[in-house]
Amino acid sequence: MTVYSRIAGTGSYLPAQRVTNDDLAQKVETSDEWIATRTGIRARHFAAEGELSSDLALKAVEAAIASAGIAREEIDLLIVATTTPDHTFPSTATVLQNKLGVYGFPAFDIQAVCAGFIYALTIADQFIRSGTAKCAVVVGAETFSHILNWQDRTTCVLFGDGAGAVVLKASEEPGILASKLHADGRYKDILNVPGRIKNGAIDGDPWVYMDGGAVFKFAVRALSDVAVETLALAGMEKSQVDWLVPHQANIRIIESTAKHLHLSMDKVIVTVDQHGNTSAASIPLALDEGIRSGRIQRGQTLMLEGIGGGFTWGAALIKY
Ligand code: ACO
Repeated sequence: MTVYSRIAGTGSYLPAQRVTNDDLAQKVETSDEWIATRTGIRARHFAAEGELSSDLALKAVEAAIASAGIAREEIDLLIVATTTPDHTFPSTATVLQNKLGVYGFPAFDIQAVCAGFIYALTIADQFIRSGTAKCAVVVGAETFSHILNWQDRTTCVLFGDGAGAVVLKASEEPGILASKLHADGRYKDILNVPGRIKNGAIDGDPWVYMDGGAVFKFAVRALSDVAVETLALAGMEKSQVDWLVPHQANIRIIESTAKHLHLSMDKVIVTVDQHGNTSAASIPLALDEGIRSGRIQRGQTLMLEGIGGGFTWGAALIKY
């Protein structure tokens, strides 16, 4: 019998504070027109003072558990994809496990920046298909607002905070059909936070740095290629994809990727306009939005894909 990882439920959470481009223009020399035409972003949410990635993750997981109709005692694996962990250690996953109040099963973080959710989903799928786990919770949670440099208008307007989660259950029915991960460390310098914690202080620059043009070029090619590779692994065609659920960094990257997949934009879940780039949280946030809005239906085929600093990238083809 083939065992699949099937999405049993999804959930997401955006912090209360919504910040529009016009709001940002009050403190940064920018405009709604500049941001919207280049990125598609109109608004993003920022966590409140003291609100951490595990707090956003908890709310997303609670919603995912409710939608899956499971008891939290059934969870036997917890993976959190985050670039903005609560602490250097312990992991945000163990902090979240304690907040959930269920203990003993493995819980760990994955750091692959904006590709983190695809990495975490693929790892959870391996646990389930090998029989090691039966009910995994996979979360993407970020408080990117904590690492934004308000003196750098080329990056600070792009990101937002949020969390999304899925409950994956072992099933005889098809779920995750194929996935593919990549990394290429030669590109580490075009998108990063170079600083580190050393002797009780930050050694180096603690803010997000990005070479936007280089990232753009790399992202379009890598995302298009990995989607094709993942379809080939599943023995499927581009025409069989019902929905593209991409990482939400920039509408122009999303449009180019959709074009390469021969998908019209009405087959793409877009949340970048309202969420900005929430890094590892963006794909599960978009997935939950697509499902809760009634657009994504059971039985449909979804292509999830993401790319992030490192560089890291990957895709997952899913029968929902
Ligand atoms: N508001 C107003 N003007 C700005 C802003 C701003 N926020 N930021 C930059 N500018 C100005 C620049 O100073 C520059 O002015 P100049 O010509 O007088 O020097 C001008 O706008 C053009 O700047 P560029 O950096 O060349 O702008 P570009 O058109 O390349 O757009 C952007 C920048 C949007 C970042 C683009 O490179 C891009 O979309 N890159 C993709 C990267 C991305 O989306 N990354 C997301 C994170 S990575 C990830 O998730 C994988």
